[in-house]
Amino acid sequence: MIYITGDLHGDIDIAKLLDENFMQHVTADDYVIICGDFGLIWKTYEDETEKEWLDFLEEAPYTTLFIDGNHENFYRLYHDYPTVFINGGLAHQIRPSIYHLMRGQIFTIEHKTFFTMGGATSIDRFLRIEGKSWWARELPNETEYKQALINLMKHHNHVDYVLTHCLPTSLQSRLPKYTLPDDLTEFLERISHILHFKKWYCGHYHLDTTLEGRYRVLYNDIISIENEIYTDDIE
Ligand SMILES: [Fe+2]
Repeated sequence: MIYITGDLHGDIDIAKLLDENFMQHVTADDYVIICGDFGLIWKTYEDETEKEWLDFLEEAPYTTLFIDGNHENFYRLYHDYPTVFINGGLAHQIRPSIYHLMRGQIFTIEHKTFFTMGGATSIDRFLRIEGKSWWARELPNETEYKQALINLMKHHNHVDYVLTHCLPTSLQSRLPKYTLPDDLTEFLERISHILHFKKWYCGHYHLDTTLEGRYRVLYNDIISIENEIYTDDIE
């Protein structure tokens, strides 16, 4: 099974993964995908808290996969971990069973394809310190955008699922907050019109809802992509 959930923010919102019902169901064959703001690679070095939670995920039966949000230490993410090729795409290997799915990649997991495009703008950037609590790499660079388009072209713009941290501009503007567009939401807007996909999963907005039937915004919900029924459209 493939499970998906929203932001962890390090240990702040990780309690959802301790849910008894969830813990009882997951097995070694399962994957848990975090839609950005993983946040367990955040401080200048792996301290005791980060180590404990990364060890917890490593010891959990499932494989943990995450895309990046805006609250990650991008310096560490890109410098401290080896880049590996898994399931058809590039990832950073954090632990033997924890991977950061890089941007603009297409992964095949349980015979389903996933396009990944992490990143988002920190709206409170002016309160943050570059290299300590904010990194310019929170938004993709030109190479990552290009890589995304090339990989999508190779797949004839067909994937089963999309994994992002933020939404395309037009959908984001319908949510109660975080409505300012940026290069990434504009890029996602463009590809949302050319891409054939079943479902689009994102985090970032700290709410659980569905837009237009197939854009699933996740925060505390942990859903299995096989079983979810999409009915809670906020429109
Ligand atoms: Fe977040």
